[in-house]
Amino acid sequence: MPQYIINGGKKIDGTVNVGGAKNAVLPILCACILCDTGVVTLTNCPDISDVTYTVKILKKLGCKVYVTDGQITVDSKDAHFETLDCDEVKMLRSTALFLGAQIGRFSSAEQCLPGGCELGPRPIDLHLLAFADMGITVTLADGVIACEGCAHSANINLKFPSVGATENIMLAASKSNATVKIFGAAREPEIIDLQNFINAMGGKVRGAGTDTIVIEGVEKLVGVKYNIISDRIEAATYMAAALTTNGTVTVNGINFEHILSFTDFCVNVGGSTVFNKNSVTVKRASPFLLGVDYIETAPYPAFPTDAQSLALSVLTLGIGTSCVCEKIFSDRLTVANELNKMGADITVVGNRAYVNGVSCLHGANVTACDLRSGAALVIAALGAKGTTVISGAHHILRGYQNLLQNLTALGADIQLIKDT
Ligand code: UD1
Repeated sequence: MPQYIINGGKKIDGTVNVGGAKNAVLPILCACILCDTGVVTLTNCPDISDVTYTVKILKKLGCKVYVTDGQITVDSKDAHFETLDCDEVKMLRSTALFLGAQIGRFSSAEQCLPGGCELGPRPIDLHLLAFADMGITVTLADGVIACEGCAHSANINLKFPSVGATENIMLAASKSNATVKIFGAAREPEIIDLQNFINAMGGKVRGAGTDTIVIEGVEKLVGVKYNIISDRIEAATYMAAALTTNGTVTVNGINFEHILSFTDFCVNVGGSTVFNKNSVTVKRASPFLLGVDYIETAPYPAFPTDAQSLALSVLTLGIGTSCVCEKIFSDRLTVANELNKMGADITVVGNRAYVNGVSCLHGANVTACDLRSGAALVIAALGAKGTTVISGAHHILRGYQNLLQNLTALGADIQLIKDT
């Protein structure tokens, strides 16, 4: 199992470019299956293990996929229906989106329930109910989902704005004879990116970014060149690093609107944020960080669950007591135990973490249990005195391209030990 070893206490200073968004490229790679004429070329693709796994599944489905520096070409002309391998499906959560994509292309899909980060129960009942609303026959037996039929016109009311369910509906309906309306849709920027990609292929989807999305199915989707949006959580990670290390970091390639809630957080904990076109420069506005009374995670545009662990790391050093309430995933506060090993003072009660700010953290042996908690431990370790060994680094490699190189260039003392 790979480990990061970080000798903390060095200021992180300089400029870093963020890559393409993990949560945009994975659904878009699944959507490539819908293209049966021509070739899709995706640019600004992050080099992360979740992309590698997804490409492997596309190849199993008969797609010809070529990955070069930041660019992925997908030729789905010869794609064919296939029951997906359970071990591969369980590697990540976004494999659930192969259901919608295969329904759209083959009117048939069969695979196990998806895996992904252990954040508590992650059902896909809303996805399956939506498929059923579209007239697709769905069966779930012994952990295997089978879907038969194509999308029919429907109005779908999502009882929660699930990102995955919204994407799956878009995938299942974009290449069909149906018109499907989603009420209560997720509004994340990655949903807009999926809409833009489908439309670039000749699709007719509108409303992404609002809570009502209308998908008018089309007969044919064709090849296109498309640039993936930048990763707002990767941006937040480097912004957080500036705060925990008392450094100054300029994050390039951001979309200002996508990181507004995290920018507000940075300001509220005593940081300063200066925007310039597509970059933001973050540093502390005073020698000390401050606590915040209360923040809670909620669907976009509110504070993202994916940035909650990062916020927790920053708040360990904030003067006073802060409360962080996790409202999306029940088990997403387990990183608190690891941060406490580094000298943090966090008490978790239910879905709330109460953080008493401490003046400094110290190095320790800690374990990353999921992608974002792993990133949070890196951020804490960079600001801590002494050496931190972070096990479970494979979780971090799932979603961060060039983390080691980027942090080293910013002045961090960090190593990645590949096999331990
Ligand atoms: C979630 C995040 C998304 C983030 C992604 C990766 C939200 C709303 N979604 O998306 O921003 O990029 O993780 O970490 O913050 N749920 C059900 N049944 C379903 C689907 C979801 O009960 O069929 C529940 C989940 O258990 C969870 C909530 O709805 O409590 C959010 O789920 P959803 O948005 O679908 O999760 P992801 O698509 O994984």
